[in-house]
This record gives sequence, C-alpha cells and structure tokens, in this order.
Amino acid sequence: MAPTEQSGPVLTGVTFDASAGECIALVGPSGAGKTTLLRTLAAAIPPRGGAILFDGQDHTRLSGHALRNARRRIAMITQKHDLVETLRVDRNVMAGALGRWSLWRALRFLAWPTREELAEAEAALAAVGLAEMLKRPTASLSGGEQQRVAIARAMVQAPLLLLADEPVASLDPATAADVLRFLTDLARSSGMALICSLHQPDLAARFCDRTFELRDGRISELEARD
Ligand SMILES: Nc1ncnc2c1ncn2[C@@H]1O[C@H](COP(=O)(O)OP(=O)(O)OP(=O)(O)O)[C@@H](O)[C@H]1O
Ligand SMILES: [Mg+2]
Repeated sequence: MAPTEQSGPVLTGVTFDASAGECIALVGPSGAGKTTLLRTLAAAIPPRGGAILFDGQDHTRLSGHALRNARRRIAMITQKHDLVETLRVDRNVMAGALGRWSLWRALRFLAWPTREELAEAEAALAAVGLAEMLKRPTASLSGGEQQRVAIARAMVQAPLLLLADEPVASLDPATAADVLRFLTDLARSSGMALICSLHQPDLAARFCDRTFELRDGRISELEARD
C-alpha cells in the first residue's frame, strides 16, 4: 500500500487481524508507516492491493453510501488531533456525532445545541477527566488536554474500531498511562477493537494485548512480555 501512485510502496505484505474488544499496539521508528497503515485501515487512503475486511465486508471495494456507513463506525484520533481551535470544547466533542446526524441537525447544533446533546458531550469529557472544560475555547487548552478532547470526540462516535495515532505523544508519563488505561478499558468493556500507534514499547506491553512492529515496510508481531 502507498500514499501516492508515484512513490514506491510504504508497506508490503501487511497481514493481521483484530477482534472485538482487542487492543493492538503498532510500534516502529519514525517513517516506518504507522500513520499510513492507520489511515488505510480508516479508509482514508486506498491500498494498492489486498483487502481490508471490516465487520465482514472488504471496505476497499465499497463506495458511496456503503463506504460512508463503514467509515462512520471507524473512528480515528489523528497525530495532530484535528480539532477546530476556534470552536468551544463541547462543539468539538459533538463533531463525533456528525456522521449520524443530518446536515440540518449538525448546523442547528452549532448554533443551538439541545440539553441532551450537551449532556452527551459532558459525559464524554467527564470520562477523559475534563468535564469542567466543556465551555472553554479549544485553543485555550494545553496540547495534552486537546488530545483528550479528541478522544472524547471519538467516543461520541461510538465506533466498532478505534484507530489512535500516537494518542499519548504529548502527555506526561502519568497522564499517558491514565489515557491508555482509559482507552484500553473502554475498548474491552464496549467490545470495540483498538489499534494505536505508540512510541513507547513499554506502554504497549503494559496495556495492549498484542504489539506489532513496523520496520522496512514489513510487519511482525513482538513476543508478549512475561
Ligand atoms: N502523502 C504522502 N505521500 C508520499 N509519501 C508519504 C505520504 N505520507 C507519508 N509518506 C511517507 O511514507 C512513509 C511512512 O510515513 P508515516 O507517516 O506512515 O510514518 P510513521 O510511522 O507514522 O512515522 P512517525 O512515527 O514519524 O509518525 C514515510 O517515508 C513518509 O515520508
Ligand atoms: Mg505517524
């Protein structure tokens, strides 16, 4: 698979599976292809070949409504977390619901959110320890707090598969462990598969069920630590 047709493949012969409720870590040096693999799994970029079976369907063969439906059930927390900094925190969190709302409802929410919608945003923020930040301008939050807002937004989407690209990169060690514990508990209790890229193999071994390493465009499973 590759991000552009002109370049050589970034990843070759990548085969692995993830079950409901399973937590998988992707490790590997910078430039190894972790983000490329996650974006491919999210159906954001098409692979050059092969299949990606998601809930029984090959999403590389879907288009239109069927592809939008599959994408709605896959949430991705990106490395740069893509929040709209000029919006308040609650509006960014509820952006996770846009896939299940009509355009009219989405526009109405931005101007006049209902009590129920705000309660949903507040519950998701409380789960990541930021309930009191509901009404703050997003730009006024620290990098780590913004990362947790992005996690809250992904939760509101209620996905079957959560892809998290370095979700703890800008957090101090204690908060990083808290956030990973939270993400992995959430995956196991809700039956959602979690695939996250991490730069810290020790965190991967501590919180995830399996760890895969990407190196020179290939994937291999690392042995579980005792
Ligand atoms: N849109 C693109 N077009 C061409 N090449 C790209 C594109 N995006 C990424 N690449 C290349 O693909 C390779 C893998 O990049 P990727 O971002 O997936 O790595 P990564 O493992 O996520 O690295 P990091 O740990 O630094 O985030 C790199 O060599 C990168 O330069
Ligand atoms: Mg990356």
